[in-house]
Amino acid sequence: MTIPVITLDGPSASGKGTVAARVAASLGFHYLDSGALYRLMALYAMRNQIALDHEARLAMAAVRLPATFAEGVVKLEGEDVSDAIRAEEVGIGASKVAVLPALRAALLQRQRDFRQAPGLVTDGRDMGSVVFPDATVKVFLTASAAERARRRHKQLIDKGEAANILQIQQDIEERDARDAARPVAPLKAEADAHMLDTTDLTVDQAVAQVLAWWRNTAN
Ligand code: CDP
Ligand code: CDP
Repeated sequence: MTIPVITLDGPSASGKGTVAARVAASLGFHYLDSGALYRLMALYAMRNQIALDHEARLAMAAVRLPATFAEGVVKLEGEDVSDAIRAEEVGIGASKVAVLPALRAALLQRQRDFRQAPGLVTDGRDMGSVVFPDATVKVFLTASAAERARRRHKQLIDKGEAANILQIQQDIEERDARDAARPVAPLKAEADAHMLDTTDLTVDQAVAQVLAWWRNTAN
């Protein structure tokens, strides 16, 4: 029997990570935040003065990236970088290294290794299209750019950080454009994905909808 996978893809702050983690907890499944891998690569490059377009060096580094994920803590070379990888400049760097085909190829098997019993919930940009094309349930989340900027702004304010909502919206839109325009594994909805516009949904409502799709498919 193949191990079930639920994929959640979509642009920044559409709610993928929050909803995926909640769905995984509810089903007792494993959870893979694939964006964290791209963010780790960007942080690694920035810290080691590797240019973000140095494809050969970054692909080599991706194969043996000294990173671990355990109980929500992301470590790079033994250091807890869970907060550091969330910085907006790291997200922008992630979307730059994410255009490199050799780097994406190097991360492919690493992501597929997370598919373990009893199941996996994963979020990113190409989870349903490239990494797990045979996923049991594919979801593509969206939300208006203004709502997504509002969510990111609130997250920063809640952390006590200064934030300019217009700048955030501009950064998000630039990153989305780069993710959607790249030739390899661009951000786009698969024909067999359920579309979920979360603009006016609470997290609970979005989680309930994904679980309903899962129950309909699994039973
Ligand atoms: O992973 P992604 O960048 O798509 O988004 P996220 O980090 O899961 O969500 C960004 C913020 O939006 C979080 O603070 C969520 O709690 C919030 N959110 C929301 O307010 N309503 C939703 N339906 C989904 C997420
Ligand atoms: O949380 P948010 O949606 O803002 O970003 P993320 O999911 O952590 O991803 C950061 C960046 O990594 C994205 O803008 C993409 O360029 C890249 N990424 C990707 O190319 N493929 C994935 N499966 C996941 C992330």
